[in-house]
Amino acid sequence: MSDRKEDILNILKNSDQKPVSGEELGEQLGISRTMVWKYIKSLKDDGYNITSSTKTGYILNSSPDMLYSEEILSGLKTSIIGNKIYHFDELESTNEEAKRLAPDEDEGTVIISETQKSGRGRMGRDWTSPRGGIYMSVILKPTIPASHAYHLTLVAGIAVANAIRNLGINACIKWPNDILINNRKVCGILTEINAEIEKIDYIVLGMGINANVDTGMFSSELKEGSTSLKSELGKPVERVSFVQNLLYEFEQEYIKFKSKPFNDIVDEWISLSDTIGKEVSIMTPSKMVEGKAIGVTKNGALIVKKDDGEKEEIIAGRCIYTRTS
Ligand code: BTN
Repeated sequence: MSDRKEDILNILKNSDQKPVSGEELGEQLGISRTMVWKYIKSLKDDGYNITSSTKTGYILNSSPDMLYSEEILSGLKTSIIGNKIYHFDELESTNEEAKRLAPDEDEGTVIISETQKSGRGRMGRDWTSPRGGIYMSVILKPTIPASHAYHLTLVAGIAVANAIRNLGINACIKWPNDILINNRKVCGILTEINAEIEKIDYIVLGMGINANVDTGMFSSELKEGSTSLKSELGKPVERVSFVQNLLYEFEQEYIKFKSKPFNDIVDEWISLSDTIGKEVSIMTPSKMVEGKAIGVTKNGALIVKKDDGEKEEIIAGRCIYTRTS
């Protein structure tokens, strides 16, 4: 959206539904009334409900349910995360776009798309991305060893769980990074890293949230284990304010991550975890580990006590709950 359109939108929003004349808008922005009219027409085409009367002026009645960057930016309470937001109507994958943009972007830049044609999940799976969901990637450039990059997955998991809890829904985290509500997945996180030897160039943290989607439309394999914010709340979630709050929660955790020992984050993660105490079967990139999840190391690795009593620490894998203990 052009700066002028954004300025007009902000003036109309701040006028509290009092009409603002084309002349007044033109004067404030230093443009002609014809240009004002053109920008208003373009805002209407974007889905903004604006009434206009030649006598009184323009009134903004409602905004469309779109995650436009200026909607998110107005009222965003962060200082790094979301400083720049790219909004797309459709992308192959926000993580792919973020990786393309990352070399030239500052830390905190966010890429959002209303839908994804090839949303990607962990371990080569697809991420179903219909309209109404939230598909978002954040570019990060922390100065940490590359081997610690997976810590950010836990950081993001805490932020998403907290943002959902702020809606009054009891969300928890299934190791390593699935957010569950009543045992059903509502969000997945995909962390991708670009590093040379030990120096990180950038990390892309992708989050897919079933916000206002109908999970009944998912494939039979997915729908059993999935839920959405809309079905848990019994009404659609206000996506713009949810994203604003999620970015805020993420920034709080990210600041802690950069300034405090990781132990503190791990304790917070444990308090939101659904996995500790459960019988699990974990498929790691190299093998299958079965046993009881008994804790998390100070590095965020899951500790599994196997049936033979031996303990194994796992940093990555796909976790399935077997028997509940
Ligand atoms: C998982 O398998 O649980 C992780 C799913 C991650 C999906 C998100 S949606 C936004 C971002 N872009 C992608 O292509 N994937 C991630």
